[in-house]
Amino acid sequence: MTKKLWGGRFKKPTDGLLESFGTSLPFDRRLYRADIRAGIAHARVLREGGYLTARERDRIIAALKAVEAEITEGRVGLEGGYEDIHSLVLGRLAEKEPELAGKLHAGRSRNDLVVLDTRLYLREELEEISSGIRALQSALVGKGSEYPDLVIPGYTHLQPAQPVLAGHHLLAFVEMLQRDRGRLADAARRMDLLPAGSAALAGSGLKLDQKLMAELLGFKGVAPNSVDTVSDRDFVLEVLAALAICGTHLSRLASELVLWSTAEFGFIELDESFCTGSSFLPQKKNPDPAELVRGKTGRLGGNLQAVLTALHGLPLAYNRDLQEDKEPLFDSIDTVKSSLAVMAGVVATLKFNPPAVERALRRGFLAAPDLAEHLVGRGVAFRQAHRAVGELAVWVIEEEKEPAGITLEDLRKFSPDFGPEALELLDPAASVRAKKTIGSTNPGMVKRNLAKWRKKLEL
Ligand code: ARG
Repeated sequence: MTKKLWGGRFKKPTDGLLESFGTSLPFDRRLYRADIRAGIAHARVLREGGYLTARERDRIIAALKAVEAEITEGRVGLEGGYEDIHSLVLGRLAEKEPELAGKLHAGRSRNDLVVLDTRLYLREELEEISSGIRALQSALVGKGSEYPDLVIPGYTHLQPAQPVLAGHHLLAFVEMLQRDRGRLADAARRMDLLPAGSAALAGSGLKLDQKLMAELLGFKGVAPNSVDTVSDRDFVLEVLAALAICGTHLSRLASELVLWSTAEFGFIELDESFCTGSSFLPQKKNPDPAELVRGKTGRLGGNLQAVLTALHGLPLAYNRDLQEDKEPLFDSIDTVKSSLAVMAGVVATLKFNPPAVERALRRGFLAAPDLAEHLVGRGVAFRQAHRAVGELAVWVIEEEKEPAGITLEDLRKFSPDFGPEALELLDPAASVRAKKTIGSTNPGMVKRNLAKWRKKLEL
């Protein structure tokens, strides 16, 4: 049986049930690189404090690097009955440097070490997720730029509402993904404080140069309260919340793609490489990746809820409950990373189907709001304009009038104030051109926004 880090006080061995119930090694194993990095920095700080000779420090560092290699190469797995990754690293170090290993844990506890490891790990993961978001943004901007003039029906309540440029619609997702990147960067900024030195909860009486350690590990400062530091998991919650919001965005994009690829809409054709077939229905080509991304939103929200609940009412400082933050955190990270990559592939390879989009644009009298604004421009009160165009819409829909078949006389039956330019507005391309506000679907603005994003994303 492996020696526990806390063996001294105990006479009996741990029950096997507790060993398997309590170990976090199967999931916190992924923190090993961070744990080794933290150990190396700690050895340097212990040397500066006079607790290790330079030679001892170097031997510990060399042994820690050897432990890292044996884990990376799979020579060390989950065996050994270790409680967690921190115990495993110290245990392997003891195999290599039996007399020295016992010196490394001076001035630190797993309570501050687990926070340090998780922050180091998150720093890299958040960078990767941010690049994943960027790749999806690039796919969206690329697709919008491929169809610069394509006008599609925009919906409210999933009822046809107003024409918008396809690029404008796609840029809506680019904007929300940018906010996701902002939230993750914000969380990364707030967790950029060194937890080491907090030890179990009260700090340590040893001479530990925390500023040096912060420098060695790239933190901008040192955490100001040891009790808070070992009990706080806000940084985990913030990441989980940001990822849950990001997942919600991905699910909305996924949903549009599922809808647009139906036979009924037919606005897009998904590439076969991102579709699957049916075991029973030979004709089917299903948008499974988008559906899976949408379905995974559930676990992202669930992971956030799980950690919120684990933290609820928890007394200060460290409690073992806190170990329950890891599986949800790791799951959300893995889920968002793979969902982003899949969605980038789906978007990059899809094709719009302009004839189907044009057919849809002729249904639902999408020109109605533009005609009302046209009347407002000619001095009619908006309420009256709204009523006149509402009556006109009923006539257009009941008579199944195509825009091309509507004349100025037809319009004037509903309001004498219609001018000849009103007829142009029946064309969806003119409808988008008529928009003037900042952030609207005006083609000049959309073109500039696409160009701005291409530059920002270095496309
Ligand atoms: N595996 C633990 C966690 O993830 C590490 C800290 C354990 N500390 C302790 N005193 N039992 O939270």
